Amino acid sequence: MPLSLTLALSKGRILDDTLPLLADAGIEPAEDISKSRKLIFDTNLPGVRLLIIRAADVPTYVELGAADLGVSGKDVLIEHGGSGMYEPLDLKIASCKLMTAALVGAKQPEGRRRVATKFVNTAKRWYAEQGIQVDLIKLYGGMELAPIMGLADEIVDIVDTGNTLKANGLEPREFIADISSRLVVNRASMKMKYQLIQPLLDRLRLAVEKRS
Ligand code: ADP
Ligand code: PRP
Ligand code: MG
Repeated sequence: MPLSLTLALSKGRILDDTLPLLADAGIEPAEDISKSRKLIFDTNLPGVRLLIIRAADVPTYVELGAADLGVSGKDVLIEHGGSGMYEPLDLKIASCKLMTAALVGAKQPEGRRRVATKFVNTAKRWYAEQGIQVDLIKLYGGMELAPIMGLADEIVDIVDTGNTLKANGLEPREFIADISSRLVVNRASMKMKYQLIQPLLDRLRLAVEKRS
């Protein structure tokens, strides 16, 4: 059987930036992804398939070998943790920062800080490094609402333009990490399918370099 390659793409805003980059690298889905309910797509390259999945699920697919490669936000990779994957290429798309934020001018409490975030593992580690005691509150989106409603003193969230913070009366406080999307590769695939992966990697690296 000829070898095949499966590339797991994060749907949502990363996908919007990934498809043009793949096109620049000569990889095109065989049909319009936005007009289909399918989750698996063939491409113009024989044996190369695309999976369209939730951003937070990409590391799981790649780490466990259900996909050979993936495109994943660095925030998602940090939160997922582990060392089950190679991360050979910064795709320099969906760039933003991971930050803490609080209501404009709000003083932090003397005692434990209530922190709302979907990045609980990342936040736990970061506050521990700062020596700050926190109670973490897991949310799945719209973190900016938590301080307004008195659910939390502070949030850990993605900041890009800062418009969402501003529109909700919040201000950025501490920088945690620079974020962009990365190409990730399953460790076994990198060994077993190197002949196929290497040219794909080269094409993508070139496409990224051409843009800067
Ligand atoms: P989700 O539903 O998980 O929030 P998104 O499509 O909004 O999915 O975000 C997916 C990824 O895009 C994030 O994990 C992050 O890497 C990046 N991202 C999120 N928000 C922004 C933003 N405002 N600007 C740039 N990149 C972002
Ligand atoms: C993301 C992020 C911030 C916002 C930051 O939210 O969680 O809320 O974008 O971007 P900005 O600084 O340019 O305003 P998203 O729109 O993805 O909503 P979500 O909470 O549903 O993920
Ligand atoms: Mg989002």
